[in-house]
Amino acid sequence: MGISVGVIRGNGIGPEITEATLRVLEATGIPFEWVPVAVGDEGMKRYGHPLPQESVRLLKDLKIAIKAPLLVDKFKGRVTCEHEDGGVGIYPSLNNAIRRELELFVDPRPIRGVKGISGRYETLDVHIMREITEDVYSGIEHRIGDDAAECVKLTTRRAAIRVAEYSFDYARRNKRRKVSCVHKANAVSMADGLFLSCFREVAERNRDIESDDYMVDATAYYLAKCPEKFDVIVASNQYGDILSDLAAGLVGSLGLAPGANVGPDGRIVVEASHGAAPDIAGQGIANPIALILSGALLLRHMGEQKWAECVENAVWKVLEEKEALTPDLGGTAKTMDVANAVISHMTI
Ligand code: NAI
Repeated sequence: MGISVGVIRGNGIGPEITEATLRVLEATGIPFEWVPVAVGDEGMKRYGHPLPQESVRLLKDLKIAIKAPLLVDKFKGRVTCEHEDGGVGIYPSLNNAIRRELELFVDPRPIRGVKGISGRYETLDVHIMREITEDVYSGIEHRIGDDAAECVKLTTRRAAIRVAEYSFDYARRNKRRKVSCVHKANAVSMADGLFLSCFREVAERNRDIESDDYMVDATAYYLAKCPEKFDVIVASNQYGDILSDLAAGLVGSLGLAPGANVGPDGRIVVEASHGAAPDIAGQGIANPIALILSGALLLRHMGEQKWAECVENAVWKVLEEKEALTPDLGGTAKTMDVANAVISHMTI
């Protein structure tokens, strides 16, 4: 029997990079069974909702899924999900709705420089643990008349402790030496102060791993100036969102930054850090590496450690030898050329 994996093909460059990633994962010989999940336009077409409860149930049953980026409207991206028990979830965007309906709570984003491509950031190697349930993306915001608006930066002890614990476990599992907490506790002393104090409490129980903390503005500066200062970073939702795009930019492209949304009971939805890139969609030139590396994170989560390493090693070989580089990295290769080059190096 095959191993069922949910697939959300997304919009923009989504279908192109999904196709490339599925081909790479199939090259492992693992008998995957791809299960399409109706979300976004497909959800609207089939069920009249961008995130139908049928799709939420299916994703929960499958436990593991690959998700491509989804286009989200500026100004009107809010999503309301009505649950069978009468409860209602209101979310600021479709991506946020998927994470929170599935109770996914952390998005680990490993970002690494590439020899010969990333210039002075070749040795950058930072793993950002982004909290994904709260903060200014809690969806609690409202207009006050025509000229003002308020948005709540929700921070709870439960979520801050949970993401800090995950970060130390992650550091230990991945043989990393240090976890740094990113915050702005000098200015947002209650919300970020709570995030930081929860981090310190967890750090106290994990003294085999080094820990420290930095203000978010200083973190942006140090990432650009001396990224070797960082190893694992744990950050609230928005800081993690912004810093991971910054790190991707430093190493050369958003197309190099993978990610995974991790939740309880072995639930995981892997996705690239980047968006749907409508500016290059439909041309077959999107860089599939971020989603392919996210596929490797899925393999590792499934216990397929050897195949995960095999895919990652093949990716580094293709990049370092500049065998197939898409235009974002200065090459002329097509999306599927990259996938085929990766497959050609996959042996264990
Ligand atoms: P974006 O990440 O889609 O694009 C930013 C820049 O990076 C563009 O120049 C794009 O061409 C480039 N880029 C991104 N991924 C690339 C890849 N794989 N290969 C080559 N170049 C790549 O960010 P943007 O433009 O702000 O957002 C576009 C749409 O995507 C929006 O509707 C946004 O809401 C959505 N989005 C979805 C996300 C998700 O589904 N997780 C995450 C971020 C944005």
